[in-house]
This record gives sequence, C-alpha cells and structure tokens, in this order.
Amino acid sequence: MAKDKITIAIDGYSSCGKSTLAKQLASKLNYTYVDSGAMYRAITLFAIHYGLASKETVLVGELISVLDSIDVTLKYDSEAEKVTTYLNGENVEEEIRSMQVSEVVSFVSVIKEVRAKLRSLQQKLGEQGGVVMDGRDIGTAVFPDAELKIFMTASPDVRAQRRFDELKKNGKSVSLEDVRNNLISRDKEDTSRKENPLIQAEDAVVLDNTNLTPSQQIELALLWVKSKLV
Ligand code: DC
Repeated sequence: MAKDKITIAIDGYSSCGKSTLAKQLASKLNYTYVDSGAMYRAITLFAIHYGLASKETVLVGELISVLDSIDVTLKYDSEAEKVTTYLNGENVEEEIRSMQVSEVVSFVSVIKEVRAKLRSLQQKLGEQGGVVMDGRDIGTAVFPDAELKIFMTASPDVRAQRRFDELKKNGKSVSLEDVRNNLISRDKEDTSRKENPLIQAEDAVVLDNTNLTPSQQIELALLWVKSKLV
C-alpha cells in the first residue's frame, strides 16, 4: 500500500554529504531531520568533559555507569532555522563539531550500551514516519524496515576538502592533512567495529556524490523517494 510519509535512512562514510542531503530532503518533503551523529558527538563531549574519554583512552565502565544521567535532545531552532543539539539542557551544537570531539567519537561509538541508548532514542524520534535520519547504522540497525535506504560515498580527497572548507568557514584552524587523516581513521573504526558497523544494507541504493553538485544529488534522491511513494 502506498504511504503518505516514508522513513528515509541515509548511511555512509564520514563527511560525504549525508547531512546536506538529509536536510535537503527533509525541507523538500516537510519531514523531520535527525542527525544521529550529533547524538554520538554529544555523549562524547560529556565523556571528554568529565575526563572519561580522550584520544588515548576511554573509561568504558565509568561512562556506562553514568549513561542514564546523560540527556541528549535535538530541538528545532527557528531563529537559526536548524536543528540544534542539547546536552543536559545546554546548547552544544558548536562544541560537538570540534576536532577534539571528532578524534574521540569513534571510540565512544563502539560501546554497546551507548549504541543501545541512542538507538532507542532514535527509534522513538522516527516512530511516526516522515523522518530523514543520517548516520552509520540507520538502514541496518535503527530502521531496518525503512522504505528508502541511501548509502552515500565520495572520494576521500573530495570529502576531506569539503570538511576542511566547512571547518574553516566556521573559524576553526585545522590543517587539510589532519582532517583527511581523521576521516580515514574514523572510516576504519566505523566499518570494523563489532557493534553495528557501517555497512551497506542489502536493499540500499548507492549515491556516490564525488562529481555531483548538491542540486544534482537532491534531484536523484527525490526520484528514489517518488518511486517509493507510488
Ligand atoms: O555523522 P558524524 O560524522 O557526525 O558522526 C560522528 C561519529 O558518530 C561517527 O564517526 C561514528 C558515530 N556514529 C555512529 O557510530 N552511528 C551513527 N548512526 C552515527 C554516528
């Protein structure tokens, strides 16, 4: 039976434009956009803040024991016209995008209990349908029954340059090489971890946007959406 509002799962490597596409789709279709990576970043920021995680080590047992006291919320900020991440009531949208968080987040994301907490939150956010969620395990673990699953990829050089430009635009001082190395090591962690690794769902369509403009990629994705709505 045709549905009015479907669930769209977008997975893929770090910085290959998942959130750009997810936001474009949500705005065109009037769906809710959920950035699941922001939730992993918020828990990571909490862990760094309390000395429970760093590039060198994660105190897994200690972090698990305080998980219940970590509240991660995504709210629509009508002034900024974007979804904003809150950690225990505090707006952390800026801080979670820092290199410091990027360098630790993959190590926190391997923890089964962290994943279980966020998965159930994500499933709640999407239970009504009409949601576009991006991440690493959305089509495989969070919404295995999503009507449309898109697996995104792009060349590492193109991804590093885009991420570098974005960080620079936001006033962050980083080198292109550090950004590239971080992407490559996160891809490695994300694809090789035991719990819900990044893999292409069998029924996902692949979108390689190495040579696509944002408008070409949304046109293509909208064709896929259309094919699911008839
Ligand atoms: O999408 P992002 O780059 O902001 O995500 C940050 C990290 O969070 C990513 O390196 C792995 C983790 N993540 C995850 O394990 N599962 C998800 N569904 C989303 C993100």
